Amino acid sequence: MIESPIRLTQTVKGAGCAAKLPPGDLDRALCGLDLPVDDNLLVGLERADDAGVYRVSDEIALVQTLDFFPPMVDDPYQFGRIAAANALSDVYAMGGTPKTAMNIVAFPAKTLDLAILRQIIEGGLSVLREAGVVLVGGHTIDDPELKYGLSVTGYVHPAKILTKKRLRIGDRLILTKPLGSGIVCTAIKAGLATDDVTELVIANMATLNRVAAETMADFPVSACTDITGFGLMGHLAEMVVDSGCGLRIDSATLPHYPEALEWAAMGLIPAGAYNNKKFRGKFVTFAESVGQPRRDLCFDPQTSGGLLITVAAGEADSLLLALKAGGVAAATIIGEVVAEPREIILVE
Ligand code: CO
Ligand code: CO
Ligand code: CO
Repeated sequence: MIESPIRLTQTVKGAGCAAKLPPGDLDRALCGLDLPVDDNLLVGLERADDAGVYRVSDEIALVQTLDFFPPMVDDPYQFGRIAAANALSDVYAMGGTPKTAMNIVAFPAKTLDLAILRQIIEGGLSVLREAGVVLVGGHTIDDPELKYGLSVTGYVHPAKILTKKRLRIGDRLILTKPLGSGIVCTAIKAGLATDDVTELVIANMATLNRVAAETMADFPVSACTDITGFGLMGHLAEMVVDSGCGLRIDSATLPHYPEALEWAAMGLIPAGAYNNKKFRGKFVTFAESVGQPRRDLCFDPQTSGGLLITVAAGEADSLLLALKAGGVAAATIIGEVVAEPREIILVE
């Protein structure tokens, strides 16, 4: 295990990797709300996407997003790095460039030393620096449960916004980070993970999707999202709904942590995976040959996961090569957009 004087993950009750409110619950809470109408709101609440987009001029639209969660690792500095990489990811997923950020912090000042808060924020700052993003402020409250994240604002050209929609039949699907971070974090908490896989999952979660985003900008990409708490299937379900197309996934190609399937088989599955399966399972058809651990991997909630990019079939290999040349080592073609079955994810 990596040495850490405090076990941050022990300070939160039932913490999973970025356990979100199940999408069905959020839909119920927001259903029927009278949302403000504005012609410049290009991407808003009425459709599930990674970030909101607001047009400022014909050349510039603002991309705005907010993400925060309890710690999934014990090292405060690394927690800060992961939270920042995760928050910035939604701007990259929209095809945008992040510019400014604000901290959002809930800190148990009565039970944790303020030095821990400082390390978390230093970790966040180190990733913002790497991304060329400035911290402009934030808000901190005293709260029994530690949470940290950031609100991020970026720019995108209004004609270059990438949403989860506009799938084209024949497009290939590329995933840029390994799956299974939820399972690995569960194994870390259970004391089963080696130092090597612990360091690897932390490094991956703290890796910006910046290179992947900059690389895809030169290719005919039709849609993009980042894989986070709803897992691969949850995010693919958001893409396939109302698309008129289907998705075919080759489960054998899914990039994953080496031990993740073994740990899934042992039942080391975060609670969020069951929620994801419950709410999005109806969009997924598994071939009989796909074993249970691989099915679990498909629903595993990710923290700061990779981009899922759909690109014209003829350019998929070139994009893959460019990603790998840029250091996005895990990038893999995992499937394609198909005509049938409509609005279903077929995992073979
Ligand atoms: Co997202
Ligand atoms: Co998000
Ligand atoms: Co304030």
